Amino acid sequence: MSGGLLIREIAANEFSRAWPIFRAVIAGGDTYSYPPDLDEDAARTMWTSPPSRCFFAERDGEVLGLYLLRPNQPGLGDHVANCGYMVSPDARGQGVASAMCEHSLAEARRAGFTAMQYNFVVSSNEGAVRLWQRHGFAIVGRVPGAFRHATRGPTDVFVMHRFL
Ligand SMILES: CC(C)(COP(=O)(O)OP(=O)(O)OC[C@H]1O[C@@H](n2cnc3c(N)ncnc32)[C@H](O)[C@@H]1OP(=O)(O)O)[C@@H](O)C(=O)NCCC(=O)NCCS
Repeated sequence: MSGGLLIREIAANEFSRAWPIFRAVIAGGDTYSYPPDLDEDAARTMWTSPPSRCFFAERDGEVLGLYLLRPNQPGLGDHVANCGYMVSPDARGQGVASAMCEHSLAEARRAGFTAMQYNFVVSSNEGAVRLWQRHGFAIVGRVPGAFRHATRGPTDVFVMHRFL
């Protein structure tokens, strides 16, 4: 159920409201390559400093998820967008990421991007892989052992892509 969900772009000074979600996600060491002890300032800078843009998904004033939208590369690669998504552990399985993905595709189109690429989808993150496939992304590459998973050790990473 994604009803009542408000998705909107945020200013950098709002990022702290999502920090508990961000911290919980990276502490797991199972989905993102960020150092599990990354601090809030570093996370805020990466997710809110231009050209990065950050969006919240909120219900009843509570932040349930956040996403990052940015060019995947500078210069001659900046027609391809890149995104990252995080949902509060308490709010999973309710379609929050699905709604944020659709929102990000629309925002990316509106900003003039012509494709979207995910560079680092951990292959053991099967729910995420299925979710992105449902939203039109294809696995276009597999990087052997590119992620040091906290419990599984070296784990393959998928590059996923779709045109907009
Ligand atoms: C991946 C993630 C963003 C999905 O968010 P979500 O809001 O639960 O996703 P949705 O409800 O829109 O989509 C449901 C899918 O998520 C998975 N899911 C459902 N309930 C879940 C739960 N309680 N916990 C984890 N994943 C769940 C399922 O695989 C489901 O797909 P399925 O219907 O094929 O089984 C979220 O689990 C998350 O933040 N994980 C940690 C960070 C991460 O992996 N980000 C993506 C990096 S590529």
